[in-house]
Amino acid sequence: MADKVTLCDERLQHIAFIMDGNGRWAKKRGMPREYGHKVGAKVFKEVIKYCGDIGIKYVTVYAFSTENWKRSEKEVSSIMKLLGEYIKEAEGSADGGELRVKFLGDLSKLPKELEREALRLEKMTENCPQTVNIALNYGGRAEIVEAVNRLISQGETSITEKTLSASLYTAGMPDPDLIVRTGGEFRLSNFLMWQSAYSELYFTNTLWPDMKSEDVDAAVSEFYRRTRRYGGVTG
Ligand code: FPP
Repeated sequence: MADKVTLCDERLQHIAFIMDGNGRWAKKRGMPREYGHKVGAKVFKEVIKYCGDIGIKYVTVYAFSTENWKRSEKEVSSIMKLLGEYIKEAEGSADGGELRVKFLGDLSKLPKELEREALRLEKMTENCPQTVNIALNYGGRAEIVEAVNRLISQGETSITEKTLSASLYTAGMPDPDLIVRTGGEFRLSNFLMWQSAYSELYFTNTLWPDMKSEDVDAAVSEFYRRTRRYGGVTG
């Protein structure tokens, strides 16, 4: 049983989640995959809220990768619909709200209406104190390549870690301290390839729709038991 987490400190400012297992969760219940995503979207909101309650300033979720277009049209459109519904809901509470919503990824490939609404929500919430990054049509390698090409087109001839970091979707944000993957797989799947260089990784068999505050606590407690050395030595 994990310790109950009350408030995180500056060591844990950014948690990222690979929300895996929606399809399997639905299948186990004899339901279509889309139902798993629907419950997954509800759990996403609960997890974001809980992370805010325990003082996490940045949360990033992997909602849709550049590879996810290979899924059936029905499944892709169900995920897009859930994102559209979330954006509308977030817009409704954006005024004076706490949550800054930012999208990581190439939004130009999304349905035009969704792209417009996503950009509008980003603008409406840009000054809010807690950030949720939603990786949408996102690929970590593509992000790096795009950033490098942008720097080249701006006339840069010598790229540094600092200039590259500042050209990523996550510019100005701390790298994730902790990356949590649900669903029992042990890989990063092209998520935050640059930003994860020193992230602590936590894998759980829990399927995303079953994720509860206790599971977040378990990941956070494990994070605080680890010693981060960044290639140096301790003791
Ligand atoms: C991975 O599980 C999950 C996805 C590719 C989609 C995640 C999307 C959501 C949770 C909804 C997004 C909505 C908002 C508002 C952020 P999987 O389908 O690959 O599961 P499986 O491995 O069991 O098949």
